[in-house]
Amino acid sequence: MTKQELKTAFEKSYSKPAEAIYFAPGRVNLIGEHTDYNGGAVFPCALSFGTNLLLAKNDKKVMNFKSLNQPEIVTLNFNQLTTRLEKSWVNYPLGVMAQFIKRGVTFTDGYDILIWGNVPNGAGLSSSASLEVVTAFALNDQMGTNFNRTDIALIGQKAEHEFALVNCGIMDQFVSANGAKDHAVHLNCDTLEFELVPVKLEGVKIVISNTHSPHKLDSGAYNQRVAECKKAVEQLNTVRLLKYLAELTEAEFKSIESAITDPVAHKRARHVVGEVQRTSDAVKALKAGDIALFGKLMNASHASLRDDYEVTGPELDCMAEEAWKIDGVIGSRMTGGGFGGCTVSLVKEEAIDTFIAQVGANYEKRIGIKPDFYIAEIGDGATKIA
Ligand code: GLA
Repeated sequence: MTKQELKTAFEKSYSKPAEAIYFAPGRVNLIGEHTDYNGGAVFPCALSFGTNLLLAKNDKKVMNFKSLNQPEIVTLNFNQLTTRLEKSWVNYPLGVMAQFIKRGVTFTDGYDILIWGNVPNGAGLSSSASLEVVTAFALNDQMGTNFNRTDIALIGQKAEHEFALVNCGIMDQFVSANGAKDHAVHLNCDTLEFELVPVKLEGVKIVISNTHSPHKLDSGAYNQRVAECKKAVEQLNTVRLLKYLAELTEAEFKSIESAITDPVAHKRARHVVGEVQRTSDAVKALKAGDIALFGKLMNASHASLRDDYEVTGPELDCMAEEAWKIDGVIGSRMTGGGFGGCTVSLVKEEAIDTFIAQVGANYEKRIGIKPDFYIAEIGDGATKIA
């Protein structure tokens, strides 16, 4: 929707004009999967699509939430802002408000809020993080709370933990807040130090393939992976003190891996340690202009997420396998939490039409679902657009 269409929709919903419009992007992660909550690095980019939030103050001391994808307006008064709702999309903006209150902010004005986003839901492209970040960014601007972009990301992450009940890492909210056009964010998820790395892909595009797989990011399976990694750390702590799996090099891991007696926790740990190394190698390869090596590391990342981390599933595996068959595909892997969602591929420009036609047809033949393809444009982090 255009800015004008959004303004009109706001007026239709609330019978008054919007006072401001904000935007926060979704993201695609190039490499570094399931490393963030293990203290490792990630390498995502902000997308040019995301979530818009329009608002205006009201004089009723209530928060009104409306989304253009949902029929009803949810109205909450100030003393309802710290309790999560049973099954509602409002938990994302509400969870952010609860975090503002936890950080000592007092709401004195009510707001009428309208949301519209174009990140496909459940596709693993961080529609929820973009909604959390746009809410935190907008409230911060309106209320003069002086949170920086990292605080905004941390507020969004806590909202996800406490109101969506997913014990996610910091990657999605961080890149939605801090992303930059034509750059990937090389983020150390332990220290939160980051570097913006230019993504200059001569004659190559980032293609996102949506499996439309019916399983969404399943918070149960995600939280289970988080717990399995914690278990691996606990077992390793019998021979070496460490806080995160990402502290270990592959050689160090090999020397103490037998301390992990739980076979599942062992596989999970092996993925994390390998993925941390691959991410570091991939960032170096990109900086050196070695896209071919970057692509190989993407493929290896997918295999490890399939075999050791077990978060791919038949749809993502099929999408990656079909991509690997196409001449002109430099690398392809699942992106995001997994269990359905999207793959990310680096594809030579001249091969894109063949890629979409053949991967699309073969995926549909094997899985029975028609996939969607997007050519990603790397955009900026959260911003006020009017
Ligand atoms: C989801 C989580 C992130 C990260 C990825 C996997 O997107 O929200 O924090 O753990 O999965 O890399």
